[in-house]
Amino acid sequence: MINAAVIGACGRMGALIVETITTSPDLQLSAAFDLTNVGKDAGEMARIAPLGIEVSDVKDLERVLKKTDTDVLIDFTVAGATVVNAPVVAGCGVNLIIGTTGLSPEQRAVIDGAILENGVKAVISPNYSVGVNVFFKIIREAAKYLSDYDIEIIEAHHNQKKDAPSGTALRAADVISEAVGGKEYVYGREGIAPREKEIGIHAVRGGDITGDHTVLFAGNSERIEIKHTAHSREIFVKGAVRAAAWVCAQEPGIYSMDDVLGL
Ligand SMILES: NC(=O)c1ccc[n+]([C@@H]2O[C@H](COP(=O)([O-])OP(=O)(O)OC[C@H]3O[C@@H](n4cnc5c(N)ncnc54)[C@H](O)[C@@H]3O)[C@@H](O)[C@H]2O)c1
Repeated sequence: MINAAVIGACGRMGALIVETITTSPDLQLSAAFDLTNVGKDAGEMARIAPLGIEVSDVKDLERVLKKTDTDVLIDFTVAGATVVNAPVVAGCGVNLIIGTTGLSPEQRAVIDGAILENGVKAVISPNYSVGVNVFFKIIREAAKYLSDYDIEIIEAHHNQKKDAPSGTALRAADVISEAVGGKEYVYGREGIAPREKEIGIHAVRGGDITGDHTVLFAGNSERIEIKHTAHSREIFVKGAVRAAAWVCAQEPGIYSMDDVLGL
């Protein structure tokens, strides 16, 4: 069995990941961390039966990871926390699944450096759903044929989401830009804003929308819209738990969901 810990264990994603680990044939929960609800039972925080594993203070990350012989830690928190915690985790020789979005290029460089220096294994993905990773492949193909069309990305998420645009929208922009040899990004438009050859990126926030992403290729007299809609967080949770079991059997390095899914 693989010992898996969760940080952000009391959050929307973290609680579902704790629950899913308890039904996994490959993983068992070794530890749970959060800023809130320290000392409470991680199972109760996930609205399941008590697990006898309390939520630990993130200040005790190193000590608890070592004491519990954790193999892999799953992190769905906020960028400012991940950039601090991931180097501590890698320094303990523990593998990482990072789902936190909104990481700046500088934060990502710190995290990548810690993973590589410590010779651990990690999957880092802005989106752990199978469908979104297939969506990335489809938009890459479409972009090759439609590079002269106007390209816009529209994403929608619930009103509690902190970062904008979503990590998935930014990844979609990068996929398209790589496919067509480079494009500027414009985030929303206001005032006098004539369209150039950019990729426009737009973030909608409201209610309990789990996550919608549309890529629009608009030409004269026609348009194509490629859309992914997440119906529940389960798809991200299942993907992250699958990645945690997969990564432990790999060589040291940084992997994407394409690698996990063999796409
Ligand atoms: N990659 C994906 O597939 C995917 C899918 C959904 C959400 N996300 C991302 O996952 C992250 C979490 O989303 P959420 O909806 O669960 O948010 P949330 O606000 O419900 O949960 C975040 C949790 O992290 C905890 N936290 C914050 N700082 C911490 C720290 N320093 N140490 C320990 N815990 C800390 C919070 O207390 C909270 O319990 C976001 O970045 C979101 O965009 C990624």
